[in-house]
Formats: sequence, C-alpha cells, structure tokens
Amino acid sequence: MPGVPKTMRAAAIDRFGGPEELTLHTLPVPGIGPKELLIAVHTAGAASWDAEMRAGWWPEGKPEFPLVLGSDGSGTVARVGGQVRGFKMQDEVYAYSFPNPKGGFYAEFVAVAAANVGHRPSRLNLEESGAIGTTGLTALQGVERLGFRKRDPVVIVGASGGVGTIAVQLARWMGAHILAVASGRDGVRLVNELVGLNASIDGKHEDVAEQVGSFAPDGIAAVLAFAGGEALDACVDRVRPGGRVVHPNGVEPAPKRRSGVEIITYDAEAGPDHFKRLNDAIDASRLKVAISAAFPLEEAAKAHQRLASGHVIGKIVLHVRPAARTR
Ligand SMILES: NC(=O)c1ccc[n+]([C@@H]2O[C@H](COP(=O)([O-])OP(=O)(O)OC[C@H]3O[C@@H](n4cnc5c(N)ncnc54)[C@H](OP(=O)(O)O)[C@@H]3O)[C@@H](O)[C@H]2O)c1
Repeated sequence: MPGVPKTMRAAAIDRFGGPEELTLHTLPVPGIGPKELLIAVHTAGAASWDAEMRAGWWPEGKPEFPLVLGSDGSGTVARVGGQVRGFKMQDEVYAYSFPNPKGGFYAEFVAVAAANVGHRPSRLNLEESGAIGTTGLTALQGVERLGFRKRDPVVIVGASGGVGTIAVQLARWMGAHILAVASGRDGVRLVNELVGLNASIDGKHEDVAEQVGSFAPDGIAAVLAFAGGEALDACVDRVRPGGRVVHPNGVEPAPKRRSGVEIITYDAEAGPDHFKRLNDAIDASRLKVAISAAFPLEEAAKAHQRLASGHVIGKIVLHVRPAARTR
C-alpha cells in the first residue's frame, strides 16, 4: 500500500521502569486483521494509566517488549481491514483502545479494531480529538449513569483533570446544576472558563463540606468522582437518600459507602454507538478540550516526567508527527 512504510518511529519501553525507560525506537509497522484499521497517528493522549503500564501494571496476559504505550489518539486511516464497514482510506479518526497487543498510540502507526474507532468530531481538530478518546468516553458514560433530572444539583470531583474537564461541560449541557470540585486556583479558573460560569471550588484548599452545603442545602442528587479522598467523602455525606455516587474504576481511594446511596463503578467502553453519542454530545455541547501541554513523540519520557510531577490541568498529549506541532 503506497504511503505506509515498513518501519516507524515509536516511543517504547524495553523493560518496566521510570519515565527514562521510554525511548525512541524504530519498529515494524503493525499488520492489520480483517476487522482492524491502521491509523497514521497524529496525536496520542498521555495519561496516568499509561504511566502505570510503563511502571509495571499490565491488565492482561504477558506484554511483549519493546512495548509501545498509548491507549488513545487521533490520525488518518492508512489501511482498512477487509471486513471493516464505515471507514475508508484518509478518514480522520480518533480511537480508544486498551490494551493494544500490537502496540499503542505512541507510534507513527497503530492497528486498532474498527469498533474502537470513531470519526473525528466535526468541531474538533486532530490534536483535540487525539486528547479525548479515553477521557471523552469516560466522561460521557459517567454523566449518563448519574440519572439526574434537569436542574438537579450534581457535584463533580476532580473536575480540572483529563476526564473532569469534559464531564463538567457534558453534565452542564445535559441540564445538571453543577458544582465542580477542581484542584488549585488554576483548576478553578479553567473549569469556570470551560463551563462559562462560576461553578467551581478548590477541593484542595476550601472546606468542601461547607461549600456543598451552601450549594445544595437539601442535599445533592449525584456525585461523579474522578478523584478520591476527603473531598469526595465530604460530598458523599451530602447525597440525598436514593442518590448516586458514580466513578470509573481506578479512582482511589474509593468513596466511602453510605446507606441509601448507590455507588456505581464502571469502565469506559468503545463501540460505534458510544462514538456516535460522544460526537453528538461534543457538537451539541460545543465542547472545548483543555490541553495543558504537548510534547513531540521523541520527548515521551518528558511527558511522563510531567505526569509524575502531578497537578496536570486538563490533558497532556504527544505530537506524533511534525505536522501536529503547529497548534
Ligand atoms: N476505568 C476506566 O475506564 C477509566 C477511564 C479513564 C479514567 N479512569 C480513572 O479516572 C480517574 C481520573 O482520570 P483523569 O485522567 O481525569 O485523571 P487526572 O487528569 O489526574 O484527574 C484527576 C484530577 O483530580 C484532581 N484532584 C485530586 N484531589 C482533588 C481534590 N481533593 N479536589 C479537587 N480535585 C482533586 C487532581 O488534581 P491534582 O493533580 O492537582 O492532584 C486531578 O486534576 C483516574 O483515577 C483514572 O484512573 C478510569
């Protein structure tokens, strides 16, 4: 196939370890199966779960080294499996795929099951789309589980992170009356900008229990959590009987249990219907994507050092191709 070389640049690890283990490799371009697409990657997301995998956590089976990290990203379709419908060469797409036995998105090419791929949302460019494969699906599927009615008071904890910055916008668009618990003054500022109103408090430095009490004196309908700990537990205390606390697996510590309050956990799911709902929500909510930093592929180790230093507001991405670097 013209345009697809035999080898590619990829940021990979030869053993589990610290950020310095992530180095530039030249690796074979992965082959595709009949239900897969080959994507020429433009932008890859870099997130805490990638860092956990780099450090030694592997969800299933035994990983093969060199191991290319990366669970999501965007790009252009470069090959189409024989049984794939709905995608053609050159389509601009984004994807969430985890784990990736043939290698992840920190590479010039990635092979992904077509079910894990969506068309680039029309409002977003490839860089923004590359940032939201995982976070967008996780945010939407969390908000959908909250079960609130219009104008119900809803609290979102961890609102200034990768998933939270999207969830606050979607929950507001779906009609919730939101209080966003963000991290630091910069987190509060960003979230207020994203939702276009003063809806945010600093969960690291303010009295969350008091703030939630004045936000919803009769109790809150639901909590969506992307960070655990005291701030989350203070919110759980103020959920009305019959209300819900929703969080994706991975949020630690898990929220405390309270009788009369349902705790719902979930994992983000990909699939054609999930991408359609997300694309529709992105359009209708006029979603903005907060990218806090972008690193070229060859500086993937630096991106992971930045993740390790904490307090990432929004999302970190890798620009896989030089063309991605003009923002
Ligand atoms: N199971 C799944 O399918 C799935 C999918 C996606 C994500 N997840 C999980 O969901 C969680 C969120 O992911 P993410 O990418 O959004 O992570 P993230 O970008 O690190 O966001 C978490 C945010 O919570 C903030 N935070 C921590 N303590 C807080 C407090 N007391 N008050 C206010 N904010 C606070 C953090 O701020 P600081 O950095 O300043 O502490 C950070 O901004 C992670 O645990 C991840 O593993 C699970």
